[in-house]
Amino acid sequence: MLEASRWEHDHIDLIDQTLLPQQVKVLHIYKLEELEEAIKTMRIRGAPAIGIVAGYGVVLGIQNLFISGRLNREAIDEVFRRLSDTRPTAVNLFWALNRMKKVIDTVGIQDGQRLVDALLQEAQSIHGEDKDLCERIGKLGAEILPEGGILTHCHSGALATGGIGTALGVIRTAHQTGKSLHVYVDETRPLLQGARLTAWELMQLGIPVTLICDNMAASLMTQGKINAVVVGADRIARNGDTANKIGTYSVAVLANHHHIPFFVAAPSSTIDQNISDGSHIPIEERNPSEVRGFKEITWAPNEVPVWNPAFDVTPASLISAIITESGVHRFPYNFQNLGV
Ligand code: MRU
Repeated sequence: MLEASRWEHDHIDLIDQTLLPQQVKVLHIYKLEELEEAIKTMRIRGAPAIGIVAGYGVVLGIQNLFISGRLNREAIDEVFRRLSDTRPTAVNLFWALNRMKKVIDTVGIQDGQRLVDALLQEAQSIHGEDKDLCERIGKLGAEILPEGGILTHCHSGALATGGIGTALGVIRTAHQTGKSLHVYVDETRPLLQGARLTAWELMQLGIPVTLICDNMAASLMTQGKINAVVVGADRIARNGDTANKIGTYSVAVLANHHHIPFFVAAPSSTIDQNISDGSHIPIEERNPSEVRGFKEITWAPNEVPVWNPAFDVTPASLISAIITESGVHRFPYNFQNLGV
């Protein structure tokens, strides 16, 4: 199975997702600033995967402070601040950082080696637990996923998590249990996670796949080719409003119009107990250059004004079910006792 990241002795190894699928390159991350850059530029991305590397990032930061004799409260706060500032929307990042903070509160900072060991253990638990959660989400989701055409948006597979993925985990498990599926993948402009990552992962798994441009989903639906939509999530409010990759909301509106079930699959670490509804979800706005072109290729005027939100919020009323490791939840959602 593809592994997005892993701790190797004293550093983090991660696959540079910006180079996929043309090149599979493993980055060796020894410094906190390298990890900050990797998260901001989306060499590693996807809500659960960001949470996992944030855990390892704390280990890296504290380990380096300890080795250089600078382990103090102020420097530790700076490690957390820098990781918190990488990406604002996926709540898994903050959830993982909170777990790491609790370890520091419990162990203290007097014995640096003991602290580093305890932090590594916690980061590896976060990683290992996510693998199990994906399995459970996959099984629960596979039971309700109909056979036939399935549409997905963005990328929610192994590379975005610590296991088989969330929405893609559901698809993968349904396929393995013998359901006959054909997956249509939105290319997912502007950064093309669908075209570059989801299409690639599905092909490696031998699951029938067809890539479409984002604006083709309505035509597919009207032709009766889509039996369900399943997507991942970056942050879910207590009432079920769900932030996911920009364009997810339009897919949900289309699905509703065509009476097609629209499913969200995510671990409970993606549920934010602190917010009542989606209006409180911070939406990341990214560099205009991502819309003017892709990598070195530019097709728009260099100075044309651009709006580039990385996520949108799908209202809970458009979501047929939210599949977490704890069960299949239906509207009206009340995630009072689940999640962070
Ligand atoms: O900007 P990205 O690529 O990090 O956005 C990823 C998504 O929106 C995914 O759908 C979501 O994180 C779920 S990943 C299991």
